[in-house]
Amino acid sequence: MAKNTKIKKIIIGNWKMNPQDSIKAKEIFTSIRKTARTLTKIKTVICPPFVYISELRKLVNTDRIAVGAQNAFYENEGSYTGEVSPSILKNCGVAHIIIGHSERRAKGETNEIVNKKVLKVIGEKMTVVLCIGEKERDHAGEYLNFLKAQIKESLNGISKKELNNIIIAYEPVWAIGKSDKEAPQPADIYEMTIYIRKVLSDMFGSDVASMVPVLYGGSVTSKISLGILKDGKVDGLLIGRQSLDPQDFSITLKQANDL
Ligand code: 13P
Repeated sequence: MAKNTKIKKIIIGNWKMNPQDSIKAKEIFTSIRKTARTLTKIKTVICPPFVYISELRKLVNTDRIAVGAQNAFYENEGSYTGEVSPSILKNCGVAHIIIGHSERRAKGETNEIVNKKVLKVIGEKMTVVLCIGEKERDHAGEYLNFLKAQIKESLNGISKKELNNIIIAYEPVWAIGKSDKEAPQPADIYEMTIYIRKVLSDMFGSDVASMVPVLYGGSVTSKISLGILKDGKVDGLLIGRQSLDPQDFSITLKQANDL
């Protein structure tokens, strides 16, 4: 993947709407940081609820761990009650923003809205973690067309150069929030990364497409993370529940670093 040759994998924790208070948030973050700061080949990014970002940023004392965001609005400022913009997040020290998570798409976020957000984040020279993923698989392979449309419409108007600031997270909706036994097999994930790169290659050319990090997300625990990283050949992981469990998450971080 990346331009920085030393960093081989990126592991992103999506805390979703957890934990319930900042004391717990700082406790979990500090514990993850203890492991992350020793690992030279990976970058760890924790995406907490917005309200914890500034406090967690104060705990960052190494560039091996960063604080990201779970969402942003498609305008930078103005009368948009309840929204948080890419520029505000940038001023809080955020560089990575998850856009188009399936839990937001389920609440009406269309590819068109995702695209507007992607363009705004890129406009701030920040990194987009673009989530894509089918709700279900069908024998006719229609889900592949669904994924293709998600990629094409979400990245509409992005230049080759701007693709440098895009990370794709493949998160099949059917594998999110389940047990690790229900996650796709590494070989399946590998095939999906090939397909995603093919779509990117058709859009932007194979030279730049091969540089885009492709991550996997959905029910990852330390029991399956090594297989996904190794045989799924992904550039990293986007992890939900496990990223709130510093012990298990740290095992995955070490696996990614030791590959
Ligand atoms: P889980 O790891 O809890 O299945 O969540 C995955 C996810 O949605 C990360 O964005």
